[in-house]
Amino acid sequence: MTPDHALLRARVDRKQDIAVDITAFDLVEADGTALPPFTPGSHIDVHLANGLIRQYSLCNDPRETHRYQIATLRVAAGRGGSRAMHEAVHVGDPILISAPKNHFPLAQDATHSLLLAGGIGITPLLCMAEHLWAIAHPFALHYGARAIKRMAFRERILQSPFAHRVKLHFDDGPAGPGLDLPALLHHPQAGVHLYTCGPKGFMDAVLSTARHAGWPEGQLHFEFFGAEAVERTGDQAFELQLARSGRIVRVAANQTVLAALVAAGVQVPSSCEQGVCGTCATRVLQGIPEHRDLLLAPEEQAANDVFLPCCSRAKSARLLLDL
Ligand code: FES
Repeated sequence: MTPDHALLRARVDRKQDIAVDITAFDLVEADGTALPPFTPGSHIDVHLANGLIRQYSLCNDPRETHRYQIATLRVAAGRGGSRAMHEAVHVGDPILISAPKNHFPLAQDATHSLLLAGGIGITPLLCMAEHLWAIAHPFALHYGARAIKRMAFRERILQSPFAHRVKLHFDDGPAGPGLDLPALLHHPQAGVHLYTCGPKGFMDAVLSTARHAGWPEGQLHFEFFGAEAVERTGDQAFELQLARSGRIVRVAANQTVLAALVAAGVQVPSSCEQGVCGTCATRVLQGIPEHRDLLLAPEEQAANDVFLPCCSRAKSARLLLDL
């Protein structure tokens, strides 16, 4: 978890419904001072009063220092984070947040950036678009949503100076052809980097289409929001061996590796605890992990030398960890 001393005491300055089930929040420093700077693709941890910690991408222009803007999708069947944001967070409320972190940065060597957003996945990509326009870097943004009324930031995008770089795609309404991924991604080019964020089905489609078309992994950048429920009924207990001390730590069938390590007094940094942020990445020296994360590329998972202990388990009876 983020240590308490690193948390910022912010205040909710604005709360606005911007699409069906989507609400935007402007967060400012409680004492009115400037906030720590951030780069495109950054997110913050929001510490909710119910004890949950949720990650939200910053979607405002990164040149702004007076606010962090986030937008949240209400997920009725979720684990309570989005409901708490929508129902229990009000204008004027104090709110604890982390400083911005970036696991989804823009590549420095890109000559062109292709941004593909699905639904609420627009948030980090809108921040990227603001930045790329400001630095006169070539880019195109494709943004798909199930319906016009579910499209967050549509007016802001249409009124932006980069509106001509954006194509909006809806499943309803007279929006013209939908997002034709095979046509869009059929010709990977050196220097062109692809960034995608959105629901898992959308991102799976984008990434599998790109990989099938031959995009190099280094030109694919993605950020998942949260893991879907994983079937755990077949989970088995297994052992960890810590290479630096030789200690053996048992992971129970109903326990995460991270929880077992913490219970054994082993400190491993963590944040999302859903296999999406990479904070807990740990080297595996021996044994076969069972990867359940949404972050590592297929060949990174296949290498089996790193795993994410907040969600992944073991296929072998023991994992030797570089801890
Ligand atoms: S804590 Fe985020 S991936 Fe493990």
